[in-house]
Amino acid sequence: MCGIVGYVGQKQAARILWDSLSRLEYRGYDSAGIAVLNGAGVATIKCKGRLKDLRERLSELPPATQGIGHTRWATHGVPSDTNSHPHHDCSGDIVLVHNGIIENHRELREELARRGHNITSQTDTELVAHLLEENYRGDLLQAMMDTVPCLEGSMALVALHESEPGKIVAYREKSPLILGLGEGENYIASDIPAILPYTKKAVVMGDGEFARVSRDAVEVFGPDRKPVSREPVMVDLKPEAAEKAGFDHFMIKEIYEQPEALSRAISGRVRGSSVVLEPGEYGLTDDQAAGISRIYLLACGTAYHACLAGKTMFERFAGVPTEAVLASEFRYQDPLVDPSVLCIGVSQSGETADTLAATREARSRGAMRIMSVVNSALSTLAIEADDVLYQRAGPEIAVASTKAYTTQVVSLALLAVRLAVARGRMTPHEAAAFTRELKELPAKAQTALKLAGEIKELAKKVALKEDVFFIGRGADYLAAMEGQLKLKEISYIHAEAYAAGELKHGTLALIEDGVPVIALMNDPSLAPKTASNVMEVKARGGWIIAVGTEECLNKLELDGDDVRLVVPATHPLLSPVTSVIAMQLLSYYAALEKGADVDKPRNLAKSVTVE
Ligand code: AGP
Repeated sequence: MCGIVGYVGQKQAARILWDSLSRLEYRGYDSAGIAVLNGAGVATIKCKGRLKDLRERLSELPPATQGIGHTRWATHGVPSDTNSHPHHDCSGDIVLVHNGIIENHRELREELARRGHNITSQTDTELVAHLLEENYRGDLLQAMMDTVPCLEGSMALVALHESEPGKIVAYREKSPLILGLGEGENYIASDIPAILPYTKKAVVMGDGEFARVSRDAVEVFGPDRKPVSREPVMVDLKPEAAEKAGFDHFMIKEIYEQPEALSRAISGRVRGSSVVLEPGEYGLTDDQAAGISRIYLLACGTAYHACLAGKTMFERFAGVPTEAVLASEFRYQDPLVDPSVLCIGVSQSGETADTLAATREARSRGAMRIMSVVNSALSTLAIEADDVLYQRAGPEIAVASTKAYTTQVVSLALLAVRLAVARGRMTPHEAAAFTRELKELPAKAQTALKLAGEIKELAKKVALKEDVFFIGRGADYLAAMEGQLKLKEISYIHAEAYAAGELKHGTLALIEDGVPVIALMNDPSLAPKTASNVMEVKARGGWIIAVGTEECLNKLELDGDDVRLVVPATHPLLSPVTSVIAMQLLSYYAALEKGADVDKPRNLAKSVTVE
């Protein structure tokens, strides 16, 4: 995700800014830039690509002791030199970097263009620079205070004005910013690792707060624009731990990032009760949408499990027969692709060889369009597909997919609703009910995370088992498939998922005293039937771990060692998001118990670029 740094002091700013940005490299980015300010004005270098490309250009910058820098993870506008930050206003006097998403960017762009601004990039960020220009009356902090009420969304904003040397102005709203305190110098950063080599003393900005930073002072102002007195904190972290934000592993950090990742995935895409996607995200005309005879969802591993959840939504909402196909199998099934068939590749990395081979196969067979759901910008799938709906999960570093899965489910839900409306299959009322559930998901994910303490204890017992079975019906079965993959890939415990109704057709033979069976129950219409299957397991001595909504779990008669893990109720088709979070936690803590290398499980790679 994007990284922000700022420096004002006595040393050469460009080098410090570059070094600080390089400490945020682990977050992932597709372009970078630095702007410095000295007596002669503002100078900027920025480019698509890696920080090492920027380092080669540092000599283009004049000596300066003040500046701002940015690493960008594309959301609005493709990765390109022009879209890289910092961005300027029309005069070039104001330079700005931004993390987050300005949700009302469309309206702002239209208004600013109408008022004659020369907007050069596709970004939402540049629009803020032009608004600052309009509100500037000799005081950049004041201009920032007058600008943010016009903005909707999440934002960390850091800006300079050529006429105000020695000052940097910042604003934070739902996107972190810290102010690092030095001797005769001060820093701004979106993340602690950026400043760790320079200072361990920091002021953490709160939501809705403004800051003015100079060489000798750091001033914070509250949402009411009045000064706020804030005690600095001492940051006691090694750089590596800071990259993990204090978590022991990337996996658990990424599990906890899900509420924020889900918010980003939805942000600006659900407006009122409608799903609004940009042309590059969804490029079907309504005629094409109406003419789709079939959809293939193509993916591997966890992404395939997300597609299984997506398939039901495309069929139920958009009324299109949909198949989720393992990308590694697609070519061998002689797929029925013709110009009425829509194919959607789904991949966190965008580099999975089998997924790329499948989407290429679909194209060569004349598919109507190749759409994609991808997390990594600049990846091959993102480039090759006709449309890319970015997951906006942020970099996922642990091999086990967590936030990639939940944001894929949500991204496919957005596409399904968009298509359903285009095909006239979903009434505004139905769309409103479902999008309301979508918007509530980040908060529900946060509630599901509160199970961590209970699950950590449970994992001690699960880690002693050799086999674990997962069962569910409908979307719960699809979530069970992801649950079993997570458990086996990082804890090395053998795990299998079964449709609950299938147990008695063979698998029940494996149930004996103490065998754990994780029963997922989130759909009230299916819960009574799953409850019967749970009773069949209990009658044979199975150990029940029930995961689901209060209403569904109340259908069960549990006793003894049986466990109930209650997750918040949501639309049943979105319940894989909440219940899989519980299973991610169980897998993580079971793997820890077993002493496994959680972030890098044996034999596995994050990005599988071979077939
Ligand atoms: C799951 O935890 C794995 N990381 C794996 O199954 C992964 O989802 C699969 O390899 C697909 O990766 P992709 O999303 O990058 O294409």
